[in-house]
Amino acid sequence: SRVKEAEFVKSSARARDCPKDDRPEFAVLGRSNVGKSSLINALIRRKEAALTSKKPGKTQTINHFLVNKSWYLVDLPGYGMYHNDKIIDGIANGEKQSEKYNFALVFIGLFAAASQSARTDWSSFTKGYFLNRDTLVGVLLLVDASIPPQKIDIDCANWLGRNNIGLTYVFTKCDKSKKGKGGRPEENIKEFQETISSLYPEPPPWIMTSSVTGLGRDGLLLHMSQLRNY
Ligand code: GTP
Ligand code: MG
Repeated sequence: SRVKEAEFVKSSARARDCPKDDRPEFAVLGRSNVGKSSLINALIRRKEAALTSKKPGKTQTINHFLVNKSWYLVDLPGYGMYHNDKIIDGIANGEKQSEKYNFALVFIGLFAAASQSARTDWSSFTKGYFLNRDTLVGVLLLVDASIPPQKIDIDCANWLGRNNIGLTYVFTKCDKSKKGKGGRPEENIKEFQETISSLYPEPPPWIMTSSVTGLGRDGLLLHMSQLRNY
């Protein structure tokens, strides 16, 4: 499961532009700012292969990274962020808020960066990507362990589960710990697990990671190699 080499292959604006290839791939999914691009950089040990930012909405296209010339890691734009219990579009920085949403909106938020006119395309594409990308071996659903469970992540897990898309929970930012309620990663992870335990007959695999300390890196690579050979 070692990474010997990794190369950026391409950025795609739409599903149909993704590489036509038989090699297996893992999609890295999660809220804007959860640490998707950072995780990819940690996995392939490159500082800025996938561009990261403090501001949500950095990644705006589908980015394929080829590892060991044999499998892909796919960096995706993030879906919506919560602020004061309201969903904020990942890129709109508070301009666009909506108290009620459904998964369609999550998907629109997922590709928040697409221009307004392209958004309808994006949302249908995204579902299409997850449902039809034959080479998709699994989804790494990234969940920020440094904050309490967020409804949008639970809804996302729910949708993937209902559609039989194999997923692994990757808890990010496990190096961050604050005093007080909701400040400890272990607590937040436990609460998340309890909330989603009723969604699956068998709980999905999960792993604690930190892109800062490298926690979980080798374990996650091993896990993905097992999924590929399954
Ligand atoms: P979008 O592309 O906007 O959807 O965000 P993203 O999910 O790719 O997040 P990104 O990797 O750009 O990271 C967002 C911020 O979180 C950056 O400031 C990172 O340095 C920080 N970050 C990411 N992973 C970790 C982690 O494991 N620990 C800590 N402490 N910070 C992290
Ligand atoms: Mg990103």
